[in-house]
Amino acid sequence: MRVLIGLAHPEKQSFNAHLAEKSCQTWLGLGHEATVLDLYGEDFESREASWHYSARKDSDRFDPMQEQRHHWHLKKLPAEVERHVSLLFKADAVIIHFPFWWFGAPAILKGWMDRGFVYGGLYKSDMRHENGSMRGKKALLVSTAGSSMQACSPNGRDGDMRLMLWPLMYSLHYVGFDVLEPYLIHGVRGGLVADEANQQRDQLTQRVFEYQAKLACWKDWPSVPFNRNEDFTEGQVLKQNAPVYSPFVRHIEKD
Ligand SMILES: Cc1cc2nc3c(=O)[nH]c(=O)nc-3n(C[C@H](O)[C@H](O)[C@H](O)COP(=O)(O)O)c2cc1C
Repeated sequence: MRVLIGLAHPEKQSFNAHLAEKSCQTWLGLGHEATVLDLYGEDFESREASWHYSARKDSDRFDPMQEQRHHWHLKKLPAEVERHVSLLFKADAVIIHFPFWWFGAPAILKGWMDRGFVYGGLYKSDMRHENGSMRGKKALLVSTAGSSMQACSPNGRDGDMRLMLWPLMYSLHYVGFDVLEPYLIHGVRGGLVADEANQQRDQLTQRVFEYQAKLACWKDWPSVPFNRNEDFTEGQVLKQNAPVYSPFVRHIEKD
């Protein structure tokens, strides 16, 4: 299996960078191929913008989707996007490591999707969801939060962290990935001293072992369920008898 490991963290000594490295070592140890794509490390420009495009279809008005599609067909995507897209197509699995920042992904990761999930190339109206370009590949989000597991639970003060990752997971599903249940590590706090710091180190060491053990049983990792095209009327609205997998896509109660 070829595994692409994305990392969205600005610090090489961070827990996230450590976990991504452990992830890579685990896959290599299991006899697979693994590549780390360190977005900060390669100074990835996360802003989608006109200046990336060398052969504009419309030089007066920048339309990101049109220019993405145009440059995909011309084979003139920005060089870094071309490379990342090629890594995505070669991978059997994509694992993305990132800290939970302001109840979502760091901007660099969001920008990577804005730029890298190229319209016309990775998705279009007849090539998305179960017909997406990434079908047959698995994607996993691995994220750390400063808050505790209780605070990040569905009835917790900070809200349901897994649910807040739904837009990211749905985006991966949108381009065709089979999205696995995210791996979340809570209570990863900086600035601790003495006993608290030692306690956290021990807990995190344990979580790394658990994560590595789960990777070793990759085939058993459960997927996140999403509605299929047939669950919607003309691809738009949930049919009355369709299942609900997320509060983001649900039936509307009628008075
Ligand atoms: C800009 C920023 C925003 C953050 N937002 C959240 C948040 O919304 N929820 C949370 O639990 N922790 C939040 N944190 C804490 C980080 O999630 C935590 O520091 C990180 O997961 C620790 O991993 P690291 O050691 O690899 O950086 C935030 C941290 C930063 C720097």
